[in-house]
Amino acid sequence: MRIGCESLRSKVMSAEQAASFIASGSTVGMSGFTGSGYPKAVPMALAARIEAAHAAGDLFQVRVWTGASTGPELDGALAKVDGIEFRLPYNSDPILRDKINRGEMAYFDMHLSQVAPLAWQGFLGPLDTAVIEVSGIRPDGALIPSSSVGNNKTWLDQAKQVILEVNAWQNPALEGMHDIYYGTALPPHRVPIPLIRPDDRIGEAYFRCDPDKIVAIVETHAPDRNLPFSPPDAAANAIAGHLLEFLRHEVAKGRLPPSLLPLQSGVGNVANAVMTGLVNSPFENMTAYTEVIQDGMLDLLDAGKLRMASATAFSLSPGAAAALNADMERFRNKMILRPQEISNHPELIRRLGCIAMNGMIEADIYGNVNSTHVMGSRIQNGIGGSGDFARNAYVSIFLSPSTAKGGRISAFVPQASHVDHINQDVQVLVSEQGLADLRGLSPKQRAKAIIENCAHPDYRPGLADYFRRAQAGSYGGHAPSLLNEALSWHQRFVETGSMLG
Ligand code: COA
Repeated sequence: MRIGCESLRSKVMSAEQAASFIASGSTVGMSGFTGSGYPKAVPMALAARIEAAHAAGDLFQVRVWTGASTGPELDGALAKVDGIEFRLPYNSDPILRDKINRGEMAYFDMHLSQVAPLAWQGFLGPLDTAVIEVSGIRPDGALIPSSSVGNNKTWLDQAKQVILEVNAWQNPALEGMHDIYYGTALPPHRVPIPLIRPDDRIGEAYFRCDPDKIVAIVETHAPDRNLPFSPPDAAANAIAGHLLEFLRHEVAKGRLPPSLLPLQSGVGNVANAVMTGLVNSPFENMTAYTEVIQDGMLDLLDAGKLRMASATAFSLSPGAAAALNADMERFRNKMILRPQEISNHPELIRRLGCIAMNGMIEADIYGNVNSTHVMGSRIQNGIGGSGDFARNAYVSIFLSPSTAKGGRISAFVPQASHVDHINQDVQVLVSEQGLADLRGLSPKQRAKAIIENCAHPDYRPGLADYFRRAQAGSYGGHAPSLLNEALSWHQRFVETGSMLG
């Protein structure tokens, strides 16, 4: 029995009944972070209600706040029926992405650490309903979190009414793995967060929730749905190799301890491949203070290389999720899931000295990084936690194959078509071609290092030529730029389908 609290059992109902509590035009805070811990039944029932309303000629849309991306039963289902008026923060659902890029819905991409504080500060407007997946309810009414924590604490606290999904698919051994910190406050009452090491526990294992706010409880038995990772290809393996060499070098120089510093590994295939690469590294006794635990990090835990991992969510392929679920007892003492405002907190990232490793779309020759917008305008996913980590890390590393789309796009360009991470937040760039250590370099020194070490040979001469001419013809000599040419590579791609022309 997942609902241990007698008095709450009377609130169990169908997903359709629960969805009827959600009004058109209202704001709904949903659980979910990557494909983990998102509600799976109520959003589908809400989507059916919206579809019926639209068929009857009535506009029905909601504003949706989440932790980050979710699964097809939430973002996909609601986007498909044109049910989302506004959405924040990170998204990776392809249907939703298409709607955003067609300009048909409003999307606010923001730093993941800032979502809860901004909600508390009142900057996002009122929250009407929280729809939260939990893995159980204790006899005293405390909520046992699910496979992600995200912004759930904040949604439960702030919402006027709460709908719970109790998912019996989630492993009961999740209980005790979470650390929900209740010490955040608004200025001028904010105090230091008492977390000194990645494995410190500073909160409670459960969410608190006023039982009077709970209007519906829906029982589900549905798996999390993450996508499988692409198996590491030659480029990903080469990137991992360059990065491992860099880390070994930093240890040899005495700039990193032998067990490194807490690792942060971003979302995506390349970051995952790097983690897998660390399995065969000389580093032992590592820790992770990161946002998501992907397959590669689970491999590191399994191999005993990683002592523990702190995150806000699992982001596992279906195979790895099943493996974790089957072996949860063995892993649970090595993992802590926290609210995303804590997993991604700038104060903590700076204190712990995280090694941040994130994927990117492109970087320019001065090391400004675009993580989000293809050709400067089409959003891929969102900034996620990359900004939280990049700005505050001990060392901030961005990784990417040197080309995309079969070589038709260079990931290293004269000028980034959109900037998420200014060059001051980017210390190391790695592609399969090599690694550019940009620390302490001037813009022109950075350009040389990036072109020579990271750019693909097909694009290197073009970049070198641009940089040479820019130094001769630029308005200023500090970060030389030819304004009428800086974005011409992107324009060429838009017009011809290739940056090579
Ligand atoms: N131009 C056009 N498309 C590009 C591109 C470029 N310069 N670089 C990557 N892409 C496309 C790829 O072609 C691929 O598209 P597909 O899905 O249609 O095949 C997609 O972006 C993913 O690229 P991939 O090379 O597989 O890398 P990835 O899975 O490591 O993802 C990001 C790269 C940038 C999309 C991903 O890291 C991301 O969303 N980052 C932002 C959020 C973040 O960093 N979060 C971590 C914080 S904890």
